[in-house]
Amino acid sequence: MKVTVSRKAHFNAAHRLFRKDWSFEKNDEIFGKCNNPNFHGHNYELIVSVEGDIDKETGYVIDMKILKDIIKTEIEDAFDHKNLNIEVPEFKDLNPTAENIAVVIYNKIKPLIDVSLDLVITLYETPRNFVTYSGN
Ligand code: NI
Repeated sequence: MKVTVSRKAHFNAAHRLFRKDWSFEKNDEIFGKCNNPNFHGHNYELIVSVEGDIDKETGYVIDMKILKDIIKTEIEDAFDHKNLNIEVPEFKDLNPTAENIAVVIYNKIKPLIDVSLDLVITLYETPRNFVTYSGN
C-alpha cells in the first residue's frame, strides 16, 4: 500500500532565460521577454510529494518535520530572494527554466530521503504554468 504525502513551499527568485552560446537575437527569438538582460522575478510555488509505504511503528510515510527541514535548508535558503543565474551555482551553466529548476530541486532532495521513497517535484512558475519531475 503506497501513500503519497506532500508539503508546499514557496520562494521568490529572479532569472533570465538565455544561452550564452547564442546571439541576443537568437535568445530573443526563443525566449522573448524572459531574455531581458536585467532579469525578472517569479513567485515560485513548490509541492514536494513523497510516496512510500506507511511505517508500521510511526504510521508515517516520512516525518513531515524532517521533510520540512530538508526543503527549508536545500531549497528555500538556497533559492529564496536570489538571482538564480548569478547566485545559485547549479544554474551557472544551466538555463533556469521551470523544467531545469524542478530537476535541480529533485536532485537536491532525493539523496536526503530514504531510498525506498519515491519523490515527485511539482513547481509552479505562475499560477497557470507548472512542471512536474519524478526522476524519469
Ligand atoms: Ni521567467
